[in-house]
Amino acid sequence: MKRILILLISSLSITAQAQTHDWENPAVLGINKLPYHATLQLPSKWKECKEIVSLDGQWLFHWSRNPEERPADFYREDYDMSQWDRITVPGNWQLQGFGTPIYTNMTYPFQRNRPSVTSEPPKDWTAYEKRNPVGSYVTFIDVTKEMLTKNLILHFGGVHSAFYVWINGQKVGYSQNSMSPAEFDVTKYLRQGKNKLAVEVYRWCDGSYLEDQDMWRLSGIFREVQLWVRPLVHIADYHVTAVPNADYSQALVTADIAICNTGKKTARNICPRFRVDGKICGIIPNKENHLKKLASGDTVHVSFTYTINKPLLWSAEKPNLYSFRVELGDEHFDNHLGVKRVECVGEVFKINGQNVKLRGVNRHDHHPVTGRYVDDATYEQDLRLMKQANINFLRTSHYPDREYLYELCDRWGIYVMDEANQETHGYGYANHEMGEDREWETAHVDRAESLVKRDFNHPCVILWSLGNEGGVGPNIQAMYDAVCRLDSTRLPFYDCHPRYSALHDFGYPTPAVLKAEAEKETEKPLIAREYAHAMGNSMGNLQEYWDVIYNDSSIAGAAIWDWVDQGILQLDNSNTAQNNGQIVNSQIVKYLYGGDFGDKPNDGPFCINGLLAPDRTPHPHYYEVQHVYQPLQFVREADGNIRIINRDSFTDPSEYDITYDTITIDGETTLTISACLKEDKPWAKKGFTIASEQFVLQPYTFPEVALPRRKILPSNITIDGNNLTSWIVDGQEMLQAPLEPYFWKPENDNQHAAHFAERTAVWKEAADVTVSYTAIDERTIQVEVDFQPSGENKPVMPKFGMRMRIPADFTNIEYYGRGPWENYPDRKRSAFLGRYQMPLSEYETEYIHPQDNGCRTDVRWFKIGNGRNTLRIEGLQPLCIRAWDYGEEDLETAKHPNEIQRGRFVNLNIDLNVHGVGGVDTWGQRTLPQYTIDGNKPYHYAFILSW
Ligand code: GAL
Ligand code: MG
Repeated sequence: MKRILILLISSLSITAQAQTHDWENPAVLGINKLPYHATLQLPSKWKECKEIVSLDGQWLFHWSRNPEERPADFYREDYDMSQWDRITVPGNWQLQGFGTPIYTNMTYPFQRNRPSVTSEPPKDWTAYEKRNPVGSYVTFIDVTKEMLTKNLILHFGGVHSAFYVWINGQKVGYSQNSMSPAEFDVTKYLRQGKNKLAVEVYRWCDGSYLEDQDMWRLSGIFREVQLWVRPLVHIADYHVTAVPNADYSQALVTADIAICNTGKKTARNICPRFRVDGKICGIIPNKENHLKKLASGDTVHVSFTYTINKPLLWSAEKPNLYSFRVELGDEHFDNHLGVKRVECVGEVFKINGQNVKLRGVNRHDHHPVTGRYVDDATYEQDLRLMKQANINFLRTSHYPDREYLYELCDRWGIYVMDEANQETHGYGYANHEMGEDREWETAHVDRAESLVKRDFNHPCVILWSLGNEGGVGPNIQAMYDAVCRLDSTRLPFYDCHPRYSALHDFGYPTPAVLKAEAEKETEKPLIAREYAHAMGNSMGNLQEYWDVIYNDSSIAGAAIWDWVDQGILQLDNSNTAQNNGQIVNSQIVKYLYGGDFGDKPNDGPFCINGLLAPDRTPHPHYYEVQHVYQPLQFVREADGNIRIINRDSFTDPSEYDITYDTITIDGETTLTISACLKEDKPWAKKGFTIASEQFVLQPYTFPEVALPRRKILPSNITIDGNNLTSWIVDGQEMLQAPLEPYFWKPENDNQHAAHFAERTAVWKEAADVTVSYTAIDERTIQVEVDFQPSGENKPVMPKFGMRMRIPADFTNIEYYGRGPWENYPDRKRSAFLGRYQMPLSEYETEYIHPQDNGCRTDVRWFKIGNGRNTLRIEGLQPLCIRAWDYGEEDLETAKHPNEIQRGRFVNLNIDLNVHGVGGVDTWGQRTLPQYTIDGNKPYHYAFILSW
């Protein structure tokens, strides 16, 4: 009896305890957190700002598998930390050797059972053993006597996912909402000299139910930590709007400034100032009394207005900024504003009255070494590459990024859809569970408010997104209401239901569906917030999308998924990458993706979807985006004149240097027209090509099949049926494998998802084909391939052509065709005809997830040599050629490039045509029919081989 009673009591107390965890309670979003506010100081000025003491650097660290094993009293001043590890802040602990990174798309990484994050998951999940890891952090803050006369605010830029703070053993507070800053007034906890700051971070909390984004799940203090040393009476917040009048002749600037008194005494005669371009602005005289006297603990809002005559408008094309300054006493903040209007007029999306097209991309905040912490230089590199690719629209999928990114977008000109950190995809797209459960309403709204309040002053923001792939229902309505209440100068957006959105979203349409959807929707502009899934070798049919978008004024634009491959770098000299972002004396072994850490559940390489590799090297399809997104298009009219179509709204073509050049190669003359920058920009030098096009003036003359078919072969050549099996040149066998009809090719990721290999398996054996060989001499053979389909209803052909293998030392390539980068029938507009020279290693493209690659189309001739001898391939019509230092079988079995067995031969595919890469999604859509090869039609092609 007694025993039963005890058991009962203890199990009750466990339940009671579980319920009281702040981190498993959606009603507790923070304890003692200061209100969210706008970024007070431009991030580029943080370093020189006297108010800010950076606490970044090496901290003491202890990692525990789960909350029970954590050093619960580590915050105490007498706690022994002599055995503790060191960790770099900001950073993610999983990338510094603690715990396991997990890559999962929509499956929650813990057992779904809200609000618990510690319920028992399947035994093979990472979270089974490591139920909810805890990182305990300690650093020390030096405080002077002078600092103690001020108001001291502890600022965390971002902590994943929930954390407690103690100073000198005293509990300060708690926070979740991992992608937004958290601040605490720590004045009363600090003392002169050395102070112990202890931070306890939980990998998961109830907030993690709202953070189910498709990304690496990483933890820790991953953004900056600062101590702000503020005057007792200070500027707590300011929101500035700059609204143009109807004809844009004037702009009304309004600044709402919040001033708080954190001192113990009433403050008197407070005198804030607001200057635009150096000029002092008028105060709206409603709060003057409060300014005469502000009681301890009070906050007052003061408004200023200013009129700019003939304002220079802000747009991504012309990012005109006006500097402003907010001053109070000896504290001031310098910032900038932009005058612009964003609106939907009927079903047309407009910026500054123009039907701007959003040429967009989605971007995750990802770095291959530092994970969720992305340094300033990488931000600059990303935005430079975006501007250079003519991208004018960035969606910060799927949460607010670091503040510096927005400053750069303001300055360099990129429209931003700023997204709230809200995704509950694990309950399904547009789910009701999370959208309707009122216990989660404040948690939802918290994420909308923190977004808008922080980034309010950035001119680059045009849309506030309520999140991605979340719920529908009152909780989303409440987010929507909050956003509309906080800001009427930008538009709200949501993907899951147009009820909460100024724009109607349609994700991943085909070009035809995009067209149809835009025609069907008559109330709101349409946007594809995500389209053109750039996974692996992809991004076909991009121009087809833009033909649709440019033809329909109701389509606002579309954003590619996504910017950068989210691979994690593994170096050869250690298992974890170095944390300072620098790779020293190391060779890259590979980039890791889902499952590579033994993480479970995982979604394998589904995080490798970028236009860039993790180190920001552009993939071939980056250049296709650059071309299709170019603001000027060139069309050659029947009379030979070239018409320029301007896709921009605020830039005249005459603002570029437009030049042309004609080149003749082997009798073929092409004209290339280019529009280049007339002056340096922060993101490119004068002369940088913004737009270009190539036209053939005098076409190439391909050789004709004029050679008589000879019966007698020279003795150095052996033919067996359709195959050329031996070719001895200068005493050496040149064929490592026969030249044979070969219709197979490995899949790329898009094709794999569309069951390409299964559908086309019959083509693993080339059939219904006749090859005729004509030896011209011992070193020259003409090859003709003829396909006459015998069956019916054959699937599409992976490729139509031949394959051979030659000795491995043939690695010097020169060709005349499209290049220099990889191109395929549905992705070749950016690759101009030219004579290109490169080693085989550059001819190949090394995808992080190995797959078909390296094609060059419209090849007139191709040479591959070893320094002594050269094989020349000459088309009797354009060819597609792929060359690798490995075979199809090697590519098809490797999971990472370092597993590919290389160097035994050179594999050459010499084709008339290849199945296009596809460009819609990587979950079933097929390559557009015009870029496939009908298996039921006859084909014929020919080429000449010579040594
Ligand atoms: C989208 C989602 C993205 C990403 C993408 C697939 O539906 O919004 O976060 O998961 O699919 O790569
Ligand atoms: Mg998702």
